[in-house]
Formats: sequence, structure tokens, C-alpha cells
Amino acid sequence: MVSLVLQDLSIRIASQYLVKGLSLTISRGEAVALVGPSGSGKSLTAAALSGSLPGGAMVRGELEVDGQAAPLEDRTRPGIAAVRQDSLTSLHPLVRIDRQLVPVLLRSNVATTHAAALARAESMLEEVGFTDPRHVLRSFPMELSGGQRQRVCIIQALACRASYLIADEPTTALDVVSQQLVLSALRAAAEAGAGILFITHDVVAAVSLCSRAAIIDGGSIVDQGSFSHLASEAAHPVADALTRAARQPATSDKHTTA
Ligand SMILES: Nc1ncnc2c1ncn2[C@@H]1O[C@H](COP(=O)(O)OP(=O)(O)OP(=O)(O)O)[C@@H](O)[C@H]1O
Ligand SMILES: [Mg+2]
Repeated sequence: MVSLVLQDLSIRIASQYLVKGLSLTISRGEAVALVGPSGSGKSLTAAALSGSLPGGAMVRGELEVDGQAAPLEDRTRPGIAAVRQDSLTSLHPLVRIDRQLVPVLLRSNVATTHAAALARAESMLEEVGFTDPRHVLRSFPMELSGGQRQRVCIIQALACRASYLIADEPTTALDVVSQQLVLSALRAAAEAGAGILFITHDVVAAVSLCSRAAIIDGGSIVDQGSFSHLASEAAHPVADALTRAARQPATSDKHTTA
């Protein structure tokens, strides 16, 4: 099966091991939640997967993307797109949003002309709740709110049509309606065959999007599996919270190829 396989990831900064022996697999078409307390190593793991670790970080481990080795030291990751937790640093501050989205849509062949790419960018912005997408497209990142920028970053990542999407807290800065729209957009990407790592503190969102979860604490995975597996273990407080969320009635469709 085509999948992203991360094995035995360790990240050291100065003399501190911040991620230790972390292994994860994401299949195409599957959304996996990575859930854990603040400071547990989620964003560092996301950065390792997307080739954007901070300078000075020492990384070890193996990454394979659809059967191809992808050295963790490399700064490029063909086939992987990322939504970073900090939307302000993800967008070029001096370039208007249209000039950041259109080239991505053209590169990934979502559109073949500038006009078609612009139209697609508008409709993607509408799909995540923007009522005036033309205004957003003419704006500079600093002219948007944090939640608006976050949604633009999600669109930028989805526009890459990458095989895998690493989404680091993509719904955190959003109101409930926008959250649902972003979850729908991620669900559609999974349905179209993307593998998604959904990093979040929101156990309800995790359960609504994902078929299984990995729980990280202190830089290591302490448990992972389906929500029913986590319910049978429920040793970690995060597993317990996920289990309670999974028992709530109104959870949406989940995606898995497993
Ligand atoms: N550039 C850095 N230099 C030194 N330490 C770092 C750096 N980046 C992260 N850390 C440390 O690594 C640990 C894990 O950080 P990380 O950002 O991965 O946490 P997180 O799980 O994403 O937390 P949050 O939920 O708050 O976003 C923390 O203790 C953090 O202080
Ligand atoms: Mg983080």
C-alpha cells in the first residue's frame, strides 16, 4: 500500500532530545490525528516531516514516501505539503495573496491559465468560508486576521495536490463555522486520496476527521491506534479524552484505507 512511513525519528536541539524514537505511518486516503499536550513535540515532528526543522536541530530516523527514501536532513519533500502552526511565517509578507496562490495552482495543474487559477482560488476561498474572496486575493497577509491567514495557508497547501498533507493545528484560530468548513476541505482531500496528519488539541475535531490517532507525550508516541483500541487502553489522559469524544453521537464520516 502507498504510504508515508516514519521510523525512529529523534530530534535533538543543543543537548536536549525533544523527540525520541517516534514512528508513524499514514496511508493515502487516511487521516491520522497526532494529539498531545503543549510542548510534547507535535510541531517538531511536523517540521521533520515537511523538511522545515529549525537550524541547529539534529535529526535521526528514516522517512519513506510511497516507497521512496526521503532523507530527513533534506529541506525539500516532494509529495508532502504542510500547513504550519504559525500562519504569519508561512506566507510571504510582501506578496499579495493572489500572487501566492495562483502560481501553486498553475504548478500543480489544478488550472492551466492565470484566469482559471484565479477563479479556482476564489472558489477554494469560498469553500473555507470567505464571503468576499476577491478582496482576500488582493490583500497582503498582514491585512488579514490570524484565522483568515490560517485558512489561506490551508488552501495553499491543498492547492499543491500533494500526496500527503501535514496540518499543524489548522483549525485552532478558527470560529466554529470556519472550523467545520476546513474539516470538510480536509475530508475532501482525504477522499481524493491524500494522506493527512492532523495535529490538534481538539479531540472532537480529531474524532470527526480521523480514523485513528497517535498520542504523543514528552517527544514519544505513548499509544496509537483506532479509537476503539484507544478506548480499550485509555491509559493516557489524551486517549481518555479521545475515547469520550468518540462516544459522542454526532461524529462525521471518517477516512481510512486501512
Ligand atoms: N527551535 C527550538 N529551539 C529549542 N527548543 C525548541 C525549539 N522548537 C521547539 N522546542 C522545544 O521542543 C519541545 C516541543 O516543541 P513543539 O513546538 O514541537 O511542541 P508542540 O507539541 O507543537 O506544542 P504546542 O501544542 O504548544 O504547539 C518544547 O519543549 C519546545 O520548547
Ligand atoms: Mg505546535
